[in-house]
Amino acid sequence: MAEKYHIVTYGCQMNVHESEKMAGILHQMGYEETAKKEDADIILFNTCCIRENAENHAFGNIGALKKLKKQKPNLLIAVGGCMTQEKGKTDILKKKFPFIDIMFGTLNLEELGNLIARKKAQKKKVIEIREKEGEIVEFDDAYRTSYPNAWVNIMYGCNNFCSYCIVPYVRGRERSRKPEHILNEVKKLVAAGYKEITLLGQNVNSYGTDGKVKTSFAQLLDEVASIEGKFRVRFMTSHPKDFTEDVVKVMEKHRKICRLVHLPVQSGSNAILQAMNRRYTREKYLDEIAMLKSRLPEAEVTTDIIVGFPGETEEDYLQTEDLVKTVDYASAFTFVYSKRQGTKAAEMDGQIPEDIQKDRIMRLVELVNSLTRKKSEKYLGKSVEILCEDYDEKKGLYLGRDEFGRMGYFKSEKNLIGKFVTLKINKANGISLFGEIERIED
Ligand code: SAH
Ligand code: SF4
Ligand code: F3S
Repeated sequence: MAEKYHIVTYGCQMNVHESEKMAGILHQMGYEETAKKEDADIILFNTCCIRENAENHAFGNIGALKKLKKQKPNLLIAVGGCMTQEKGKTDILKKKFPFIDIMFGTLNLEELGNLIARKKAQKKKVIEIREKEGEIVEFDDAYRTSYPNAWVNIMYGCNNFCSYCIVPYVRGRERSRKPEHILNEVKKLVAAGYKEITLLGQNVNSYGTDGKVKTSFAQLLDEVASIEGKFRVRFMTSHPKDFTEDVVKVMEKHRKICRLVHLPVQSGSNAILQAMNRRYTREKYLDEIAMLKSRLPEAEVTTDIIVGFPGETEEDYLQTEDLVKTVDYASAFTFVYSKRQGTKAAEMDGQIPEDIQKDRIMRLVELVNSLTRKKSEKYLGKSVEILCEDYDEKKGLYLGRDEFGRMGYFKSEKNLIGKFVTLKINKANGISLFGEIERIED
């Protein structure tokens, strides 16, 4: 019988996709997937360290395996991802959880197969973290679990060193994948029936500026969207310091590109933006949105916001609220600032007490939700094309998203996963829409 693996993933879409690559390596080795940890021969944690609670989740779940490992001494426990890549973290993990067998980082995930083989041949644990990024290793055999959506990396790493952020320390410098590799991957995915391609990078707008390739992000996006077939194209994340009109012009040219831009603003206060090392102002940000909407009036914007950054006054916070109202976001991810060791912001004066952080995040979430709700109501009676991506057993309904990421639910006798379905919306419930099928298209 084949050995089984179970992967637990934390963090962003980049990590979710990297878990698909790890799963691909395990399949090549003959492993099969299991949804139950108890049945697994190897349990793999793909960790995140963006905020303290992401780390705490992983700590909790790794710790909980102590008993299982005792009962099943041959069970392999492997930990990879951004947390193990963090300086000094493997020592902490080793001390806290001596039963971990394998640790690896973000910069050598392609070695996973070798590391497992090495561990099987020796008693000692295998810890292999690479300090510096090497050349990109192309890997075609990701085991994708997200049909009809597919993630495609266009670049790795980040050069921006926003003062609060750990990512540049755990992902290395920016490296762009060759356009021909990206285009081939997308073509294959489309031919295999994938209907939504999301181009991934920490800062997609700086694609190609590392000197490794001669194509700009706008050119790449143009080429991806020129591939034949009915599918959607998304991209994330855009950094406002680099978001330019050439990208919007390409969006205008291709209806395949969703009219949604994820443009993380982080704060509405220029003083805080400067302390965050974001390298744009509130005014420049608002100009970009005006530029986007002048070319694509129907376009929507989503964002990420941090509250409680060191030195943030009530006045600064209110400027964030004001900006949120001005932009009228389709939705927003809101975070409480989390101090990350080794970053500039961790050393700053004026760290904000927890009660003030909590108060601000609650007010902001309330505001964001009210905007999202209002937008949902505008959908009532309208026809909306969604890409059906799943079936919700509890609700007994199929679901999918429109191009703006809005979730739509509907009833169907037939399995419509992977189809474009036009719904007539008859109910809007907070952020979710409900409707009846008007039209089905492949
Ligand atoms: N590269 C992307 C985002 C990567 S992390 C970008 O630049 O937008 C995703 C989000 O996590 C960030 O946009 C930010 O809002 C949030 N984040 C990053 N570090 C954080 C920290 N130390 N505390 C709280 N939120 C953080
Ligand atoms: Fe972090 Fe800033 Fe890089 Fe985004 S751009 S990953 S927030 S350092
Ligand atoms: Fe993503 Fe978390 Fe790493 S957000 S890049 S998995 S630190």
